[in-house]
Amino acid sequence: EKGNYRHFMQKEIFEQPTVVAQTLSSYLRRSDNSVALPQFDFDIGSVDRVTIVACGTSFYAGMVAKYWLEQFARVPVDIDVASEFRYRDPVLKPGGLALFISQSGETADTLAALRHCKENGQIIGAVVNVPTSSMAREADLLLPTHAGPEIGVASTKAFTCQLAVLAALAAHMAVRKGLMSREEEHDVVEHLLEAPACMNAALDHDDDIAAMAHLIAPARDVLYLGRGPDYPLALEGALKLKEISYIHAEGYASGEMKHGPIALIDDLVPVIVLAPSGPLFEKTVSNMEEVRARGGKIVLISDAEGLALAGEGCIATIEMPRVHPLIAPLVYAIPVQLLAYHTACVKGTDVDQPRNLAKSVTVE
Ligand code: F6R
Repeated sequence: EKGNYRHFMQKEIFEQPTVVAQTLSSYLRRSDNSVALPQFDFDIGSVDRVTIVACGTSFYAGMVAKYWLEQFARVPVDIDVASEFRYRDPVLKPGGLALFISQSGETADTLAALRHCKENGQIIGAVVNVPTSSMAREADLLLPTHAGPEIGVASTKAFTCQLAVLAALAAHMAVRKGLMSREEEHDVVEHLLEAPACMNAALDHDDDIAAMAHLIAPARDVLYLGRGPDYPLALEGALKLKEISYIHAEGYASGEMKHGPIALIDDLVPVIVLAPSGPLFEKTVSNMEEVRARGGKIVLISDAEGLALAGEGCIATIEMPRVHPLIAPLVYAIPVQLLAYHTACVKGTDVDQPRNLAKSVTVE
């Protein structure tokens, strides 16, 4: 089943361009370059508040979606991990859209949060990968990801497929609210359709990343930095590294470094910086310079232009294709997944079955 791959996780990382394309094809209509959602009997344009609930990697997909929903659809978004959401007595106004993101569709806390929102008059949207799951059955608006079965315990392809669906949802909501012109919608469709090829270009750096893993494997702690929609990617990179290589890692919003974590910096802590060219590049790079000035060892992940501007003096760089900011999270997911994967391989840990973890967390 693994074909030519050593691990399911590796196979699933490499499947991403295909499954993201598959997922996008059911949300983007090529005939008129529009974004389409499954039919459902509610006007999504009238939603004036979104609550996102998920766990782990799916939660990070939700964090990215918050940026998109606010930017495109101008709708306020509240987001929380399911285990906190359930117990904090959230304010749920009738008619709000509650969105649950889950690969398995069975995560106990997320499912309980879904039922709580249903009882409290929310419209239930679910982005799930298992179409027969409880969450899929109980949703009013089912937004499936078409990642296919995900076997590796560490989520990879489900995450990028969730991002694809969530980007389409944000754009569609913006169109229905009259906030996105046909032309802008075309642009979004074009950019999303570029994602699979850009993800392939990212996968081409597999060998470089495998070599780089030897720099990361001896570390005890690793930091990941990102800004805007790439901040959740920093969190996701840190989670992937922790769970499969057992190296302690933290993701931070780059601007938060000076509020504490910069005290950790010395030449034993590699700092992975996610900084695609774009409106946030300069700010992120200036945070990176602060780290470098304190002896930090930096791995910069950016495109050719970004690396030319800021790559000097890094212990390593990973070159990504130049991408539109909308699809950067889908593309930059690949190097963080590969870095965790290869680091775990160098350490000889059980990549597909990390200790203490289960694929589907059905206990609260
Ligand atoms: C991380 C990982 C977990 C899951 C989390 C939610 O690699 O796999 O953090 O993302 O347990 O699972 P689902 O998406 O099935 O609700």
